[in-house]
Amino acid sequence: MKRIAILNGPNLDRLGKREPEIYGRATLADLEAALRKEFAGEAELEFFQSNHEGALIDKIAALAEAKFDGLVINGAAFTHTSVALRDALAGSGLRAVEVHISNIYKREEFRHHSLTAPVCVAVISGLGLEGYHAAVRFLTKA
Ligand code: DQA
Repeated sequence: MKRIAILNGPNLDRLGKREPEIYGRATLADLEAALRKEFAGEAELEFFQSNHEGALIDKIAALAEAKFDGLVINGAAFTHTSVALRDALAGSGLRAVEVHISNIYKREEFRHHSLTAPVCVAVISGLGLEGYHAAVRFLTKA
């Protein structure tokens, strides 16, 4: 069975409460339950959320050491700012899919650039929480 990790960055712990007009009303726990339900028996899923850049980097290194099969990452605001997160992904050798709940290209200009996208296999932006499902589906098959 493929082992796939789902990493969420800063403020995504407040999903469901935070700007629901942009990110919706479902919580991170709802997302985890929905993914576990869809991929039961198909993929082993591990979930991790942190508001701290270093914690996300440490987690990526641990997943690399554990030789995970894939990684779904919503780096949230760190997507646009973190060279360290990009370096962690690049150095991990993990197949990563970047997910954004909102369409970052429809929003403020500072969100249009992703430092992490070039070291990911693909980017999904604007499909809401369905983006995570699509990413896990892809990584499960790939
Ligand atoms: C986000 C988009 C980012 O620009 C923002 O900082 C987030 C969430 C998204 O999922 O749409 O926190 O990654």
